[in-house]
Amino acid sequence: MGVEIKIEHLTKSFGKSLIWKDVSLTVPAGEICVMLGPSGTGKSVLLKTIIGLLKPDEGKVIIEGVDIASCPEKELYEIRKLFGVLFQDGAMFGSMNLYDNVAFPLREHTKKSESEIRNIVMEKMDLVGLLGAEDKLPGEISGGMRKRAGLARALVLDPEIVLFDEPDSGLDPVRTSFLNQLIIDLNAQIDATFLIVTHDINTARTVPDNIGLLYHKHLAMFGPREMLLSSEEPVVRQFLNAQRVGPIGMSEEKDADELEAEKDQELPPLPPIPLQQEPSSGIPRKSQRPPGQWCAENGVTPPPGSFAPNMSMAPGA
Ligand SMILES: Nc1ncnc2c1ncn2[C@@H]1O[C@H](COP(=O)(O)OP(=O)(O)O)[C@@H](O)[C@H]1O
Ligand SMILES: [Mg+2]
Repeated sequence: MGVEIKIEHLTKSFGKSLIWKDVSLTVPAGEICVMLGPSGTGKSVLLKTIIGLLKPDEGKVIIEGVDIASCPEKELYEIRKLFGVLFQDGAMFGSMNLYDNVAFPLREHTKKSESEIRNIVMEKMDLVGLLGAEDKLPGEISGGMRKRAGLARALVLDPEIVLFDEPDSGLDPVRTSFLNQLIIDLNAQIDATFLIVTHDINTARTVPDNIGLLYHKHLAMFGPREMLLSSEEPVVRQFLNAQRVGPIGMSEEKDADELEAEKDQELPPLPPIPLQQEPSSGIPRKSQRPPGQWCAENGVTPPPGSFAPNMSMAPGA
């Protein structure tokens, strides 16, 4: 069913450099969340803090009643078994073939026999569409295949939580779209909690149940997809719609003069909210909400044209 991640007042700095402060959010069990943010805003640092690889300065990360940030090493080791992580580069061992790479966590963390391991590895390879590629070395396959192999490895211990660090980085839009479909299909199938870090706006607009935006050392907003896609909050509006007009500048925040110069510029209207990408089986995921539900419940009028079935949603939709 997946496990909830509850983050309370989390603050992290390295030396004198503050990464983010007072981040609070709950990733609901079994749901898909996307955490967006410009490069360098500490998205990877957040993931590492969630699995206890980095300790926050303040705050808690609560998983099954245990605070990852302060619990003893032994307890942390147990809690980590709930996680599967897909690192940015796939993090494969270059000298091992895909089979051994995917089998690695099973050999490391379980006492399963080689024949049991074989069954699990083949099942996960099948799940990510890599059956037949077991003997390949990571260097012999495409970036998209490496991500799939990394995903198979993240799944071998049957995680309750899967963390993805920029699964779409380095992939072309078509491969990204296939990978996004795979993520949706997997969520429907294994029913774990998914937290995906990305700066790909199209992924954020079409894949998740919830979106968060890290910006300028804090969590600018976190909530249901429809809430952020209909939001007029300047930073959220600008980022989720890839607009130039708004408080975010080329490198950091725009200064007062730049903002003053933009004052009279009319904002382009919000684009329609696309339909959420669905499992290819056509059977909805457990946490999937009907289109327009959040808007209707909260008295928000979605931008014109939203949820139109014939609208081109994600490429490959
Ligand atoms: N172990 C570390 N020690 C010192 N600084 C770090 C460490 N890890 C990350 N940082 C810094 O934290 C900031 C955020 O990094 P990161 O989480 O990788 O950003 P993002 O994933 O959003 O692009 C960067 O400025 C980076 O240099
Ligand atoms: Mg990163």
